[in-house]
Amino acid sequence: MLRLLEYLVLSTVFLSSWHGVVANPISTDQSPPQRPFQFSESGSDMILTDTVDAAIDSILKDFKTPGGVGVAVVRKTPDAGWNVEAKGYGFAKLDGTKITEETLFGIGSNSKLFDILATGLLISNKSLSPGISWKTKIASIVPEWQLMDPIASAETTILDAMSHRTGLPRHDLILPAETVSDEIHRLRYLKPSTGFREHWQYNNHMYTVLSYLPPVLTGIPFETYVTDFILRPLGMSSSTCAEKIPSLTEFPKS
Ligand SMILES: *[C@@H]1O[C@H](CO)[C@@H](O)[C@H](O)[C@H]1NC(C)=O
Repeated sequence: MLRLLEYLVLSTVFLSSWHGVVANPISTDQSPPQRPFQFSESGSDMILTDTVDAAIDSILKDFKTPGGVGVAVVRKTPDAGWNVEAKGYGFAKLDGTKITEETLFGIGSNSKLFDILATGLLISNKSLSPGISWKTKIASIVPEWQLMDPIASAETTILDAMSHRTGLPRHDLILPAETVSDEIHRLRYLKPSTGFREHWQYNNHMYTVLSYLPPVLTGIPFETYVTDFILRPLGMSSSTCAEKIPSLTEFPKS
């Protein structure tokens, strides 16, 4: 499941307020001056202009990358609408296929944000009975849940799991389990390295646990939940949760 999460792919990289960075490339003398972020007044003043296109192309050239980027600039308009610009720069494939605003990228741990969004939707779901909150204890909703530290096991809340403060270090190299349920069941065998809520320690397994909340509470698989309640309502029709991880042999040889 972790790998499924890691391969949740999106068509674009959202750069809601990064345009200052994009518009002010570090390495060229003819960089346009940096502008402060401004709300679009008419909805017509574009950020991704020819000048910005040229700046992004020159950054790609400086990095000598064979690849490229997808860029989206999303701004609120004064009338509470959205001004969205999306473009692709550079190459998606060795055969010369260009990156467009529909090109899919593996977003790695940025998929954790979708875990959080999905959990937020569950928390605001008034039809769930009993309902849950950020303070709901994982032990009260996930049957497979148990940690070696009895205090962490009993007390870990949804917010603790999200905040990397259960006392468990990464333990990324445990043998992959067949199912999410099995992976969660194995957490009880992993040694904590600090006390509960004592330190921040990055832990991927907790996000696997969070991805289990939609199926355990609504019966809907995580991938379907994210697709139906987040991606599709946002009009992200190309974006998807990958069904399967591409094996190394499927990557083009260079
Ligand atoms: C809300 O909960 C109900 C009842 O379990 C479920 O049918 C529905 O799909 C849920 N919707 C969301 C967005 O969580």
